[in-house]
Amino acid sequence: SIPEDLRTLADYEARAKAHLTAEAWLHIQQGSGREITLRQNRGAFDRLGLLPRALVKLKGASTATDLLGRRHAAPLLLAPLAYQRIAHSEGELACVRAATALDTGMIVSTLASISLEEVAAAARSMAAELGKATAPLWFQLYLQPEREHSLQLVRRAEAAGYEAIVLTIDAALKPTGMTLPKGVSAVNLAGLPQARHTAAPGGQVLFGTPLADAAPGWDDLAWLRRNTRLPLLLKGLLLGADAARAVDEGVDGIILSNHGGRVLDGLPSALDMLPDVIDATRGEVPLLLDGGVRQGTDIIKALALGAQAVLVGRPQMHALAVAGLPGVAHMLQILRAELEAALGQLGCRTPGGLSPDWLIALNR
Ligand code: FNR
Repeated sequence: SIPEDLRTLADYEARAKAHLTAEAWLHIQQGSGREITLRQNRGAFDRLGLLPRALVKLKGASTATDLLGRRHAAPLLLAPLAYQRIAHSEGELACVRAATALDTGMIVSTLASISLEEVAAAARSMAAELGKATAPLWFQLYLQPEREHSLQLVRRAEAAGYEAIVLTIDAALKPTGMTLPKGVSAVNLAGLPQARHTAAPGGQVLFGTPLADAAPGWDDLAWLRRNTRLPLLLKGLLLGADAARAVDEGVDGIILSNHGGRVLDGLPSALDMLPDVIDATRGEVPLLLDGGVRQGTDIIKALALGAQAVLVGRPQMHALAVAGLPGVAHMLQILRAELEAALGQLGCRTPGGLSPDWLIALNR
């Protein structure tokens, strides 16, 4: 059911526009401001070249990666994306089924348009149907103005079998979002009062409003750490000093991210900030990153600089829009196949074998 001319993530991206309303397309694609950060996310990968080793035998080669005590088929997870039903009526259900089929972990957003329980149940029934174990599911938390409501979300995620909590900290003051299509909403938050992510209208006073007053701090992280036994990852920081403090607070992993260039324009790419974070954390916790990952060689570059895994964001929406579940499965298959081919062509048998010695700055 997948057209033959869809061979890369770029093909899906080009095709997706025709399957989305103009507003949804912009909402998914756009970066904030003049998109300086959005461009950095691709530029950082494109400025790096790869240095192969000659005549390396590949018997026993594998992309398998251990993260938080679990084996992942490849160093790749689905990034948390709000409202996936914008792109396809099955939304998160299609994504989690595709992820299960491809043994890929998925991070489910607080702002998912299918309830976190239904997403977990769909993963389990798909795994049973295919006679395999479920791939790891992590729950992405946006802190709510009331701690009690954040805790309710965490308890629900624990009960539903999510294996980690990902606290996103870089979008508390996100500018205006889109008008959601009829029938698409943040169902996980149904019944809760106005959530703190709610956008501040452009050009209006922010400081002194409930939105700014509710912005989370380090005490909220410490509180969350005390209140769940699940592994806790922090998503949306870029500085080594912040990462070191987060490790001191007991986080189990860090996801370097600038939110796909969607929040503060002018941030550098996660890839460019990785060395600073590695220096500051010295391998104490796994480091993941996202922003601009679009081909297998991007994964290799992130790993060579010291990341344990990467997340892929917008390509989920592109593949969903074009072909639903089979599209997302195909997108993941493409990335996996590209990663394997590139590792083989480089002469590197496992992701763990990569290091900065495999990279060279390109003249561009
Ligand atoms: C996001 N992102 C995001 N992050 C998060 O923690 N919670 C969320 O609900 C969302 N929602 C969301 C919606 C859309 C449409 C996009 C494009 C992004 C950020 C996302 O997890 C990730 O950091 C970026 O998308 C990574 O960049 P790429 O792969 O899109 O370039």
